[in-house]
Amino acid sequence: MLSEVLLVSAPGKVILHGEHAVVHGKVALAMALNLRTFLRLQPHSNGKVCLNLPNIGVKQAWDVAGLQLQDTSFLEQGDATAPTAEQVEKLKEVAGITQDGAKPEGLAVLAFLYLYLSICRKQRWAVEDLELINKWAFQGERMIHGNPSGVDNAVSTWGGALRFQQGKISSLERPLALKILLTNTKVPRSTKTLVASVRSRLLKFPEIVTPLLTSINAISLECERMLGEMAVAPAPEHYLVLEELIDMNQHHLNALGVGHASLDQLCRVTMAHGLHSKLTGAGGGGCGITLLRPDLEQLEVEATKQALNDCGFDCWETSIGAPGVSIHSASFLDPSVRQALDGL
Ligand code: PMV
Repeated sequence: MLSEVLLVSAPGKVILHGEHAVVHGKVALAMALNLRTFLRLQPHSNGKVCLNLPNIGVKQAWDVAGLQLQDTSFLEQGDATAPTAEQVEKLKEVAGITQDGAKPEGLAVLAFLYLYLSICRKQRWAVEDLELINKWAFQGERMIHGNPSGVDNAVSTWGGALRFQQGKISSLERPLALKILLTNTKVPRSTKTLVASVRSRLLKFPEIVTPLLTSINAISLECERMLGEMAVAPAPEHYLVLEELIDMNQHHLNALGVGHASLDQLCRVTMAHGLHSKLTGAGGGGCGITLLRPDLEQLEVEATKQALNDCGFDCWETSIGAPGVSIHSASFLDPSVRQALDGL
């Protein structure tokens, strides 16, 4: 039982190279984003467990006693396990979800209840156990994405920069924090649909798509090599190579069919300021990253951000290579974050 407010944060992630290719056994490089999601766990004496996700307008409460009375034997014992279709249907009943459970809000509630009920059932709360957090985060991903590669949950758990291939993860040593712009085109897309579309293009044109995936793999490896060199002695030429790799990968991703007019616009607008961008994640809209070379004038960065905002995009200046999931003491928290959490 929690006796005081517990604050936990986890970084977002960007895939530097290898999205989609990773689903087909190739290497991906992912880095923890210095934009964090904060979780505030607060004890209540009203006998309810409340879920408040202000960003997507979810606020729901359940009687703890009512939840305890539910027959949760359908949730497996043992280690972190994937939800079955049957379990998802049962959970919808528990959650009182009658509308389309595939909506992001419904999926978020289902993922929360699945994790909450499973973890309570095991009567185990091991916040510091990163292995366990990673496994549960993966199951949450499965609830939302269907068949994720595992790269998202891994990088948010471990932080820094990770090399990921066929479920095998290794950390890049002493990764530099790279400055980037993260831009949200606000164009909604479904990772599941986009992953399926790449698979069907691969089946339709294996001779064309396989070399694209092989080339993306080579881009990830070259980027890994560059980051290794930069960790020892960073030089301006390294950034020029990173920019070239970004451009080539963006063209490949377009050829895989996961580009979008909004992402083309993002690349054009940043290129007009001499900056190089690529989509990150599933594509089809969503987010893009723009590399900020260290020699860049802040005025130029501001002008680029303004140009992206003028397109109707949201844009954050941040860095990648951030720490993984962390616990915070409220008194050491950045005042702006504390204020935002207090305002919920
Ligand atoms: O759209 P995101 O941020 O969840 O990233 C998806 C990345 C893919 O490689 C396309 C899929 C995956 O599971 O790795």
